[in-house]
Amino acid sequence: MNRRQILALASMTIPGFLMTKLDSAQALTFGKKFHSSLGALVTESSSLKVGDIQIFTGSTSSGKNVEVVLTRTKKGVFALNGACTHQGCGVAAEGTKLVCPCHGSTFNANSGAVIRGPRGSSKNSIRPLAKFKVTEYKGKIYIK
Ligand code: FES
Repeated sequence: MNRRQILALASMTIPGFLMTKLDSAQALTFGKKFHSSLGALVTESSSLKVGDIQIFTGSTSSGKNVEVVLTRTKKGVFALNGACTHQGCGVAAEGTKLVCPCHGSTFNANSGAVIRGPRGSSKNSIRPLAKFKVTEYKGKIYIK
């Protein structure tokens, strides 16, 4: 396999790798309805304005808590797994960014891209925050 083929393969597999997949055994719930094809209902569309960053805590069927960061831009709604990819601490919103309180990693709140790695490490030392698939349907925001 030559260099070009390796890069082409990486470009096809990395986005899938970065998506958070929830199998049915781990389906998230936020104490609201679960839509069989759209996923877990997180909140009403009207409660998330352009520029907002909101963090919700859902739970899996096995009882594990999962933090989900919802943001809205003029391009739409984005959902990220709020667990820092360094050691799993929950990120917090700081202005337009997400900052990990444990070791200072900083992420883009819409894309999950790493802006700064943990203290003493480069930004390339950790992965971006994983994304959930988001659907807005009839005034509600669902993720899966
Ligand atoms: S756990 Fe987030 S920076 Fe270390």
